[in-house]
Amino acid sequence: MTTRRTFTLSTLTLLLAAAAPTAQAQGSGQLNIVCSVQDEWCSMMSSAFAKSSGLKVNVLKRGSGEALAQLIAERANPKIDVWFGGTGDPHLQAAEQDLTLEYKSPSLPQLHSWAQDQAQQSGWRTVGVYSGPLGFGYNTELLAKKKLPVPKCWKDLLSPALRGEVQVANPASSGTAYTMIATIVQLMGEDKAYEYLKGLHKNVSQYTRSGTGPIKAAARGETTVSISFVHDAPGEQMQGFPIATETPCEGTGAEIGSMSIVKGARNLDNAKKFYEWALTPAAQQLGVAAKQFQLPSNKAAPLDARIPDFRKIKFIQYDYAKYGKSSERKRLIDRWEREVNSLPR
Ligand code: F6P
Repeated sequence: MTTRRTFTLSTLTLLLAAAAPTAQAQGSGQLNIVCSVQDEWCSMMSSAFAKSSGLKVNVLKRGSGEALAQLIAERANPKIDVWFGGTGDPHLQAAEQDLTLEYKSPSLPQLHSWAQDQAQQSGWRTVGVYSGPLGFGYNTELLAKKKLPVPKCWKDLLSPALRGEVQVANPASSGTAYTMIATIVQLMGEDKAYEYLKGLHKNVSQYTRSGTGPIKAAARGETTVSISFVHDAPGEQMQGFPIATETPCEGTGAEIGSMSIVKGARNLDNAKKFYEWALTPAAQQLGVAAKQFQLPSNKAAPLDARIPDFRKIKFIQYDYAKYGKSSERKRLIDRWEREVNSLPR
């Protein structure tokens, strides 16, 4: 039995306003982070930074869409100082909505061009901290047991043989799922993309809240296929789960995982210290230490062999400026709610 959950930006905004952290008093000795990567990396970042800075670091884990909703909810009274990680589109939307602070880091020249472009595009209100390709995860044992072919292309996910076998996140809460919609729209054109999403809907058992939920479910045999960032697979493999990935034959999108300082941050100096530290090769190595395998944005950060090889993947020319606009995100998610998520399965 599967559950369907519906998240809209407005319901999320209300929920998150109610759930805002309470213990974050003003003061020079602390830092409040909202973190949109997986828990282990969030914890490692906060404890390593607490140790090196001597600050008290509070960390709150939120999906990319949820973190944006929180910043909107707290606009008049920000409780978060810095937003670390999560897909780049909602960071661009936060910049556009004047929720984040313009800050031109002296470390920018040390970063890959895609990370610098993200900064420039936002008017220096965000910066790329990592990148990763969108693809499919699949449980190798379940696939073999059900005698299903390996999904290699977007079109393969429409096969009637995959009815109820696919999980993906909900685009209102998850940046991964929004990246999927934006990628398919760019690949197919908008109307064809929504026809595709309606077809996919028949095969989706559950739209999860978090973008990493589906690959964890596939790894544990709770679903056969997931639509996920492929860098989220090696961590599951390291735990012994039978999970493998493919990137779509037609082409795919990549996220530019980002970081932003909140406008009105109560602990601004500490937020800037964290920001600079998070862009260093040493801090960026903590991703791999936390078994997460995104491509780091600092050119000097060492590359683990398990990080996806971008040269072997067919990418679309993802238009980050267009799909990072608030109006575009809202329009595409509203259309998805109306035309796709409301359909029976
Ligand atoms: O931490 C794993 C990850 O896949 C990141 O690469 C990405 O930025 C984030 O999750 C997106 O999470 P969500 O889809 O829940 O917003």
